Amino acid sequence: MPEMIRDRVNEVLEENDSSSVILSTALSSYAIWKLYTWVYHHELSLSQRLRLGFFEFVKSLPIISGKVKEQVDAEKAEMAKNLTTAADKWISQIPADEMKDEDLIKLMKEYIDYDKIDWRGGRLSGTTFESNAEITKLCALIYPQFMLQNPLHADLHKGLRKIEAEALSQVLNLYNAPKTGCALMTGGGSESLGLAVLAARNRAHSRGIRWPEVIMCRTAHSSIDKACHYFRIKLIKVDYDYSSWTANVKQMAAQINRNTCLIIASAPDYPHGLIDDIQAISTSQ
Ligand SMILES: Cc1ncc(COP(=O)(O)O)c(C=O)c1O
Repeated sequence: MPEMIRDRVNEVLEENDSSSVILSTALSSYAIWKLYTWVYHHELSLSQRLRLGFFEFVKSLPIISGKVKEQVDAEKAEMAKNLTTAADKWISQIPADEMKDEDLIKLMKEYIDYDKIDWRGGRLSGTTFESNAEITKLCALIYPQFMLQNPLHADLHKGLRKIEAEALSQVLNLYNAPKTGCALMTGGGSESLGLAVLAARNRAHSRGIRWPEVIMCRTAHSSIDKACHYFRIKLIKVDYDYSSWTANVKQMAAQINRNTCLIIASAPDYPHGLIDDIQAISTSQ
């Protein structure tokens, strides 16, 4: 069979010189590869890209782009109005003269008084949760004693290192981690979620998955969108269940495929403060 094909190819190309055969083979292979990578784009499907391209084109038409700009400018003006106060004066340059302590304290008090909404009440989802004013006071007392210590220098700040190790062990125990479990102190919510996403992506890569995918409900925190963007991961978002308002487990299960490296559940979710059905999500397949 292979000889038959070879003879047939030689017969068809008999008239061509070998350099043009090599060149046209290389060029057509390159063109096929380009077409393939354009059609099978791991982050956005072909239909999504066609739709995006179409809307970009429509938005660039002068009659539409003028209207879009008008609305964007109006939104920006509204936002600026909500974020500033009538008393705003901006200190945009580093002051040449030293400020007196009492002036600085007075200025900071002014800034604190800008907040008109009672966020301390614990009723603003996704902001600050102060469960106990006494504990906050205690933290404020302890914090200054550590605020200049640099955890990078664990040999210098042994107490800080111990606090970190104890906190990590407590979290591992809370989650019933196996003996091989490990934990890492992070600097905030985005870094915590980002590193979890990165770990899942790296594990998928080590298992030969070239284009890992993450599945989450659209009620999960937007820092996952950011992490997937940074780490070049396809993010599949499903809806929430309209009766329980928690992640739609059926929709999640339908999106699982051999590229899935992580399924995200929220406890609690960002917009509603509700806990997804983690047990059902963890057993769905
Ligand atoms: C679940 C979750 N992820 C990420 C963030 C973002 O946190 P940060 O601003 O510390 O990066 C928050 C903040 O509220 C959060 O609640």
